Amino acid sequence: MSKVLYRHNVSHDLPRAVAGDGAWIIDDQGRRYLDASGGAAVSCLGHSNEAIRKAMVDQVESLAYAHTRFFTTSPMEEFADLLVDAAPDPLTKVWFTSGGSEAIEAALKITRQYFFEIGETDRRFIVGRRQGYHGSTTGALSAGGNAWRRRIFEPILLETTHHIGPCYPYRHMRADETLEAYGRRTADELEAKVAELGPGNVAAFMAETVVGSSIGTQPPAPGYFKRIREICDRHGILLILDEVMCGMGRTGTRFAFEEEGVVPDMCALAKGLSAGYAPFGALLIAEKIHRAIENGSKTVMHGHTFMGHALGCTAALAAQRYIDDNNLLEAVRQRGAYLERRLKECFGQHPNVGDIRGRGLFWSLELVADRNTQAPFPPAAGLSMKIKDTAMENGLICYPMNGVADGRQGEVVMLAPPFIISEEEIDLIVERLSQTLDTVLAANAKAAA
Ligand SMILES: Cc1ncc(COP(=O)(O)O)c(C=O)c1O
Repeated sequence: MSKVLYRHNVSHDLPRAVAGDGAWIIDDQGRRYLDASGGAAVSCLGHSNEAIRKAMVDQVESLAYAHTRFFTTSPMEEFADLLVDAAPDPLTKVWFTSGGSEAIEAALKITRQYFFEIGETDRRFIVGRRQGYHGSTTGALSAGGNAWRRRIFEPILLETTHHIGPCYPYRHMRADETLEAYGRRTADELEAKVAELGPGNVAAFMAETVVGSSIGTQPPAPGYFKRIREICDRHGILLILDEVMCGMGRTGTRFAFEEEGVVPDMCALAKGLSAGYAPFGALLIAEKIHRAIENGSKTVMHGHTFMGHALGCTAALAAQRYIDDNNLLEAVRQRGAYLERRLKECFGQHPNVGDIRGRGLFWSLELVADRNTQAPFPPAAGLSMKIKDTAMENGLICYPMNGVADGRQGEVVMLAPPFIISEEEIDLIVERLSQTLDTVLAANAKAAA
């Protein structure tokens, strides 16, 4: 028996992945799995990208690691240039991490240090959103508002974090409301929360630009983030956008916030940033924040041993250059439109699919027991795990997630295929997903009868 403490279902046997071939993962029995979710929206360039492999081998042959207290490296400098050049003003600096949660922890601590440097030391509250997910470390979990993921840890989470409702039209928009009016009403919850906490006490608002797994590829309502930005500016609050899952081209633009017409004060990135070839993350930071530190303590009171690792920076540099050189943002938009069309054709009338939503190559089906009432399946049915397992038996990797409706019930199946996916492979994703849902839902109906 394995000595590894597995993450999900700790004693569950897993196939052993040994190779990659484009959008496919191959196990040690020679079985091929079409990776329609990039793991968790990570492997955006598939599993056998030669340019990234070669860049990493070249780098490790010269130098793998140099501590950031003593040295900078060319991959770190070149990647910072690439990222900052791609980002709009005033995002002018980048802080490197080994993943998404670390980028969020850095955002939380740099927020606090910023207000310390400018003498606004009462500002300590972070406002996040219910159903938001920002990572599993203590600070990131505190900022997130997913009740199920927080449940066991509530007693040790940060008391300085507060939450407003998500922007989730399928479950919360009123029948007599437009999408814009709903977005404004939801954004205005921030105004009310700031009034409740005291404007001079609030430091930052944190949200995923397009919500990933905890609602299921949910884009914001039009105007939502413009209104949020206005409220933040009016009260001197920082806007932190979490694009760990939705950023770096996943939704068809390099930064998902480009479509919202706002620029955050910090933006957390990971997952697709290095396309999964190395553990890697980053936090883009606005000019005024690093100026405040430069003119104050001069040192960021934070850091990790592996930050800015040369292999992570090399992988990210090669991945992002590959995306640019091969015009893959355009491919995301085109293939994304094809995926949307195929999903709507296949599942648009499905009795157990309540909503089909997403953007770019980032799509979800929200499953319901009853389309008319939007009633979710009971959590005890355990649909997510069954869908994941059955999909794998059918040679498909998708990302089912439970608790989306309210942190306890509600299921989505999330798709985030690589940017190099072909139309034939998209057809296969839809076909295998359809087979999978037929099998699982039929077994579920039989068990419930
Ligand atoms: C939106 C979002 N933020 C943060 C994280 C945390 O990233 P990591 O798992 O790399 O720590 C995730 C991970 O799924 C995420 O989806």
